Amino acid sequence: ERRYLVGGELREWNGPTREVVSPLYVDGEPYVIGSCPALTEAESLEAVAAVERAWDNGRGVWPTMRVEDRIAHVEDFAQRMTAVRDQVVRLMVWEICKPLEDCRAEFDRTVAYLRATVDALKDLDRASSRFVIESGIYAQIRRAPLGPVLCMGPFNYPLNETFTTLIPALIMGNPVIVKTPRIGKLLYAPLLEAFAQAFPPGVVNILFGDRRVAIPALSSGRISVLAFIGSSRAADALRRNHPLPHRLRCVLGLDAKNAAIVLPCADMELTVAEAVTGALTFNGQRCTALKIFYVHASRMEEFLSRCGEAIAALPMGAPWKPGVKITPLPVPGKVDELRGLVDDALALGARVANPHGGQAERTLYYPALVADVTARMRLHNVEQFGPVIPVVSYTDVAEATEAVIASPYGQQASIFGTDPEAVAALIDPMVNQVCRVNINSQCQRGPDTFPFTGRKDSAEGTLSVSDALRAFSIRTLVAAKGS
Ligand code: G3H
Repeated sequence: ERRYLVGGELREWNGPTREVVSPLYVDGEPYVIGSCPALTEAESLEAVAAVERAWDNGRGVWPTMRVEDRIAHVEDFAQRMTAVRDQVVRLMVWEICKPLEDCRAEFDRTVAYLRATVDALKDLDRASSRFVIESGIYAQIRRAPLGPVLCMGPFNYPLNETFTTLIPALIMGNPVIVKTPRIGKLLYAPLLEAFAQAFPPGVVNILFGDRRVAIPALSSGRISVLAFIGSSRAADALRRNHPLPHRLRCVLGLDAKNAAIVLPCADMELTVAEAVTGALTFNGQRCTALKIFYVHASRMEEFLSRCGEAIAALPMGAPWKPGVKITPLPVPGKVDELRGLVDDALALGARVANPHGGQAERTLYYPALVADVTARMRLHNVEQFGPVIPVVSYTDVAEATEAVIASPYGQQASIFGTDPEAVAALIDPMVNQVCRVNINSQCQRGPDTFPFTGRKDSAEGTLSVSDALRAFSIRTLVAAKGS
């Protein structure tokens, strides 16, 4: 792709491009699937100028448009997007190696999210249009847009997690710049025309490039909201070198270290099934993946042997193989990073508890079940974001809850047990540490109408269909005295 979208124009890029390389090897060689513009500060600032014109200090066509008309544009976009589903899915499969069925599911979930956002907006609009009478003041509460938004999504859900901020931001009347993900960007090529045709000029602007393309826009002081979903490391890099304007609102989805506590009374068949899918779906590359297990010592060997069997049964290989679960990892250097984490744990007394665990061939990493993990190991404390399952043994459940409390992250947790009293005793301590406690089930974001956020270093602001509408708007009042 040589084009990018700014101010309603699909502009041809004549500068340098960046090759997009699949994590799949073809004939033993890395496979180049295409290229994208390597845009610079100048294009970032062009996008800022375009988004500012669309906003026009709140007087632009988009922020002043009637809600029903904005909805019509978004619905028109949904139709155009659906027409290029196969192309988008194919590019997603090649670039991030998510299994084909999961890529299709991501696309369909994104369209469903878009339609659910429209429904939620209609409800919100009805609720907001009501008058309130208080102390002799007649007031109407209105939801108003905030101003230009910069959306940046992650590689693991390159379409869905960008759209979970893009769509609510847009529909509330905010013009948007999308900085496409560093990996998982080529799928935006077939969407460029759909965006250009469905929205007025400058309302959606699409930039390709690395993080440096986002920085001039952010530093310009013209962006009202940064919506960033990705790693804490990338978010810190954005903030560290480039102080963000002080009035910038941030909606952030960052690292997590979701814990599973396996009680002595756990139903082991169910626990292992949830543990393995919870930890290894899309190779563990989900913010909601289960990333650390605290297992009662009396059930440890059973847990490890059953997990080992379940892992051995997972089909591995190319992402279009039916039923495949473990696929090549798209982040350059990821296999070495995982090796480093596991080696550090082994040096400090951990062991790999499943045959072939941690073996790798190029970008394909065989899941490692790592037992005897302790808090001194990096694997215990950092988000691995890959197919490694750290397991800690405990004898007193307070050790497990204390570890969750000590974690800098606070997205979700799971409790596995069949004794209702033992499970219930853990719920309150967990509810004050994380934002979703799952009982006898893995962590997950959906259904998308549920609130989705995190505490501590895991998130800022709440996402989900209706909460996101609130995140990208402000309540304003029109108030009159008298009758
Ligand atoms: O990577 C973070 C996603 O929000 C996870 O969503 O639980 O539906 O896979 P999911």
